Amino acid sequence: MRIDGVPYRTVWVDPEDGWSVRIIDQTKLPWALEIVRLTDVPAAAHAIRSMQVRGAPLIGAAAAYGLCLGLRQDSSSAAMERDAALLAETRPTAVNLRWALERMLTRLRNTPAAERERVAYLEAAAIAAEDVAQNAAIGRHGLPLIEQAVKPGARVNILTHCNAGWLATVDWGTALAPIYLAHDAGIDLHVWVDETRPRNQGAALTAWELGRHGVAHTVVADNAGGHLMQHGDVDLVIVGTDRTTRRGDVANKIGTYLKALAAHDNDVPFWVALPSTTIDWTVSDGIAEIPIEQRSAAEVTDVTGRTADGSIATVRVAPSESPAANPAFDVTPARLVTGLITERGRCAASADGLLSLFPEQRRSQ
Ligand code: MRU
Repeated sequence: MRIDGVPYRTVWVDPEDGWSVRIIDQTKLPWALEIVRLTDVPAAAHAIRSMQVRGAPLIGAAAAYGLCLGLRQDSSSAAMERDAALLAETRPTAVNLRWALERMLTRLRNTPAAERERVAYLEAAAIAAEDVAQNAAIGRHGLPLIEQAVKPGARVNILTHCNAGWLATVDWGTALAPIYLAHDAGIDLHVWVDETRPRNQGAALTAWELGRHGVAHTVVADNAGGHLMQHGDVDLVIVGTDRTTRRGDVANKIGTYLKALAAHDNDVPFWVALPSTTIDWTVSDGIAEIPIEQRSAAEVTDVTGRTADGSIATVRVAPSESPAANPAFDVTPARLVTGLITERGRCAASADGLLSLFPEQRRSQ
């Protein structure tokens, strides 16, 4: 996507040195566009853990490039396995991280040590390129849902949660890909952007990227969605996911489940957009089986923003003696999901629905 006319991706190899990895530091948005240069595995692990890069597909691609950085320094099998383990433990919920590292290791374990660095960069580039193509396809398969919601003389109102836009992927985004295509096709649409406490990925990132692309949007408090649906102000919900089970349960940013409940109660279609790299075919029951990341209490008790004088400040909003809990994801059961939008098309959120699009996974049943 473009920022002020300049095309960007969220992760890329520095064209000048041909090996270091560049990322957009998402902890600085929307106040500053800062590009960070990663040169080793600890820096890549820190970028993922601290959420300089975030979003399920992007952390997979970033981890793949992180492994390349490690192989530059030591291409032995022991070092490679150690680095992959370090990167894998940075964030537990999004399955793309584990998927990308497994794909890299599968390719590299059978590659002679002297060849590994070169092969690793090729494989990481393939992971990134495939993510871009998959998300573009998700956009094409999601577009008809927005076209069908068009009513004469009225805008299409879409609600989204967290950031599942191009910042969460290598490019295009998942939930926002159909929205960008619909906007570019001239459909009059408007996006309700859940602020997405505690880290405010909606207010800070989704609002920023929609704004850069000229998409009409309004940031709302996380608790506003049910009210908006009761009053007919939401035509459909589209969200992303960090891990979807083989039967269609969906883990996504905390608060997604409550939006699905409100959508169900108000007959608002609730769609989930995902590349197949986000499907964990090894798990069925999302509530029982998906590990939920527990993050720092400070993300709940404190809020960071820009003050009137332009400086960035963090203030505490809870009493200093009050403890806080911070489960970062929740699981929406498949029964509350209208359908899934994947790179191969749309399907029901069920084992049969997913297997109809991915029949090669029948063997792992
Ligand atoms: O904690 P985050 O910001 O990494 O969580 C991101 C989300 O929950 C996104 O909705 C999800 O990764 C889908 S992104 C295409």
